[in-house]
Parts: sequence; structure tokens; C-alpha cells
Amino acid sequence: MQPYPQLPPGFRLGASTAAYQVEGAWDADGKGPSIWDEFTTRPGAVRHGESGRVAIDHYHRFREDVGHLADLGLDDYRFSISWPRVQPTGTGEPNGTGLDFYDRLVDALLAAGIRPVPTLYHWDLPLALQERGGWLERSTAHAFGEYAALVVARLGDRVHDWITLNEISVHTLYGHALTDHAPALGLGFGALVAGHHQLLAHGLGVRAIREADPAHRVGIAQQHFPVTAASDAPEDLEAAEMFRVLTNWAFSDPILHGRYPADWVADLLPVDPAQLAEDLALIAAPLDFYGVNYYEPSCVEAPRPDKDYSGVLEVDVPEGMPFSPVPVEAAERTDFGWPVAPEGLTQILRDLDARYPDLPPVVVTESGASYHDVVDEDGRVADPRRIAYVDAHLRAVLDAVDSGVDVRGFYVWSAFDNFEWAAGYDERFGLVHVDLGTQVRTRKDSFAWYREVIASQPGRQ
Ligand code: NOJ
Repeated sequence: MQPYPQLPPGFRLGASTAAYQVEGAWDADGKGPSIWDEFTTRPGAVRHGESGRVAIDHYHRFREDVGHLADLGLDDYRFSISWPRVQPTGTGEPNGTGLDFYDRLVDALLAAGIRPVPTLYHWDLPLALQERGGWLERSTAHAFGEYAALVVARLGDRVHDWITLNEISVHTLYGHALTDHAPALGLGFGALVAGHHQLLAHGLGVRAIREADPAHRVGIAQQHFPVTAASDAPEDLEAAEMFRVLTNWAFSDPILHGRYPADWVADLLPVDPAQLAEDLALIAAPLDFYGVNYYEPSCVEAPRPDKDYSGVLEVDVPEGMPFSPVPVEAAERTDFGWPVAPEGLTQILRDLDARYPDLPPVVVTESGASYHDVVDEDGRVADPRRIAYVDAHLRAVLDAVDSGVDVRGFYVWSAFDNFEWAAGYDERFGLVHVDLGTQVRTRKDSFAWYREVIASQPGRQ
């Protein structure tokens, strides 16, 4: 019997990273500061006061890193392009030296037979744009469209697959509604406009990419997860529905339905109806694929008046919100404390398929787990739980495919251990272990296992 999950013919197996999490070289070769360069200097913002200034120094070590990816046999490598490396202040003439880096990276990937799939924005906004209001301003969406055009003009002869933005929902909620991520604005519901402008940026990005060459394939990477109510009580059902809208559908309905999921969401946006209609027409432009990042399901209840929710979950929802996330039941958790729930991936893929009749082919653009891996005396990193995790999530994709969902790819988060945002470097998601002191890379057992998964696919032998 074949021990490895067997995906449908043509299915693409890949791995993902993001610029701020791996590149380091935070001020090299004319790069401007990003909102994460600033946020990570704030006391208490990140565990142990860590930052992505050096990260895993991928900027200087990308050739070695591409060597690991080549040995893995990846079909696709998803990485992100740092906007402030390309445009140090977010607008104007490109920084040629910054673009050169991506040129070399793309060439190295292609020489290794790996398809590059860049994400144009993975949360590292040029600080100069933040100082002018960042995603609270429409002008940032237009600046993004111009930046996208610049990058495509430089790389578009060799790169044909593009992801506009990463997880608009998380960037809006953690960075703008709450204060866990940069730019840490803590605006509550007032943050939704930052989401709208990122959606608009997506639409403008899609337009710029297609104008450069209609043959380009364009998608987006969005976090999605099933939300259940803690009980069947009407107030819990209502709280769960509101949470589901705010964390999932408010960011996908505009793209896949051309409208917001509820009037109360649209009414929170300071955009007049004619402008909103025009924006939504742009935002809903057809896509070639829809990227889904999946980690864990959520369970939500209506706040119980006498219950203290602080510290119940990693992120505290501010008091006064009409919903409270509570821990989901889980037989197993990762070392990050996240429940291991592969059935949630099958569920959300089915939910998306049922909700959107015109859903484009789906690519799971991130799935993976943090375990606090160590290199043992023999130089080995044994990570059997990551192997079991990825195996189960690939099989969860197969279950969704069996029920008719058109899933075309799966990318492990992440290729390398890296800077896990507010959690710093304790959380290790990589197939390759990185010693942050020495920058030595060590392939984990999951690396060898994933290589076998890829090699065992029909038609590869
Ligand atoms: C999603 C984000 O896109 C990525 O940057 C992050 O590291 C993973 N989730 C794990 O939290």
C-alpha cells in the first residue's frame, strides 16, 4: 500500500515563507523601514523583544535556501516581496538594488525547476505610508496598485503566478482592530476600513497584473476557518455568526460575491454607496485561484456577564464585544497551543465551495504547525508530530476533493523556521530547522518525509 497521501494528477505541492519573517537585512541596499521594523522596537510588542532585523538572513543565504527547496523537490515556492525593499517610502522610483534580489531569487528557483509564486504584500507596509495613514487611507490602495505594476514589469517575464495580499482579515483584525500586530492601532470596528482598502488594493493589483499580461495567473491568500457556537442557545448562535462574518466572510464575500455579507458591515465603512459599488466591482474581478490559509477552527459564545476571558486565548477580544472566543475541544495541540483539527480544513473547503458558486480553483497556500524542535546530539531533528500533522491535513484536502471541491495545490507553512510575528522565534514551523545563533540550517525528519510525499505522486517516479 502506498504510505503517502496521493493527490490528484497535476496537484502542486509547495512550501511558503514571507519576506519579513525570513529575509533579515532590514536596512540593506536601500531598503526602507516597514511598520514591522518600527513595531518590533516597542517594548513588550514581541516575545523576548525579538524582531525580523536579521531573521534567518535569507537575503544573504537564499542560494543555500533554494538548494534545500530544490532537494525537497517542490513544485511551487511561495515567498513574499518586501514593498519597502522595492519602494523604500512606498511610492515613486523603484529601488533597483532591492528588485535585483527578487530577480536573483526567481532565477535561482527557476534554475532549480521550482515555480515561483510571490505574494506582493505580507504585512510589511512601508513605514512612510503608515505615517500618512496606512490602510486607513484609499491612497495606500492606489500606491499598492503602482507597486504591483513595478514588480510585474521587472519579474513578469519569468513569474506567471501572483498572490496579491496575504490574510487581509488577520492584518485588519490583529493589526488595526487590536494591537497584537503592527501597526497596532486598536481601532475595534473602526478597523474595517483598513480591510476595505486592502480589498481595493487587491482589486487594483489584479488589474495591474492583468494589464501587464492577460496570461498571468492571479490569486489571493486568505485565512479561513470554521466557527462553531459554544451551544445552541440563540445568543451563542448569533455571537458565532457575527464572529464568522467578521473573521471570514467580510473579507471573502467582496471578492467572491461582489458585496459585503451584511448591511451592518457595509454601514461601518466611511465610503459612500456609489463609491462602494464601484470599489466592489473592482474587488470582485475574476481570479485564477483562491488561496486558503488554514490553521485552526474557532468556537464562540455570547459573553457571560460574570466570566473573566482574559488570557483564555492568545488574543484578548476587547471588552464590550458581542462575542467571546473560547477554546475548542481538542485531543491534541501543537506546541503553540493550537488545536490539531484537520477536519476543520475539510469543513472550510466545503463551506467555501457551498457559499461561492463561482469559487475559483483553491490552493491551500498555508498549512503547518509549530513544534519546539531541537537538533539532537546526532544532528537530527525528529519531528514526528509535524509529519503526522501535515499528513492529516493532506488527507483532509483529499476528503474535500472527494466531495467535489476543486483543490489544486497545498503549500506547507513553512519551508524554514522563521520569525513568528508577536511570538518571535520560539514558534518553529519549518521543514528546515534554523539555529538563530549560527544560522545553520538542519533538515528535519519532516523534510525527508515531505520529499517522499512529493516523489511518490503519480507520474513523478
Ligand atoms: C499565517 C501568516 O500568513 C504567516 O505569516 C504566519 O507565520 C502563519 N499564519 C502562522 O501563524
